[in-house]
Amino acid sequence: MSWLPNLKTETAEEGFELAIKLSRMAVKKTQPDDATRTKLRDDYANSADSLTLASQVVATNFQTVAAANDYWR
Ligand code: HEM
Repeated sequence: MSWLPNLKTETAEEGFELAIKLSRMAVKKTQPDDATRTKLRDDYANSADSLTLASQVVATNFQTVAAANDYWR
């Protein structure tokens, strides 16, 4: 089964989780090697700038997910 059949979620909170998943999947597709990602984890986890950038990627994806769900109106 597809890991992303559609962008629909029940709640905004689930939508935010989906935005995180999209962001992490992009990193995984970009760097498929598990060991390399694990090695780099320590770097970004301890960098305020990297964490801020990661938040920004999630925010961008959240915009898309929110629009796809009509802002859970
Ligand atoms: C863990 C998000 C970029 C490697 C995590 C976790 C989150 C997250 C939320 C915690 C998962 C948990 O403990 O349940 C993101 C976002 C990113 C990003 C939003 C940027 C868009 C990266 C990059 C790397 C990376 C650039 C390395 C190349 C990892 C690894 C873990 C992790 C190895 C630990 C996984 C585990 O303990 O199971 N990330 N991440 N992430 N991330 Fe990222």
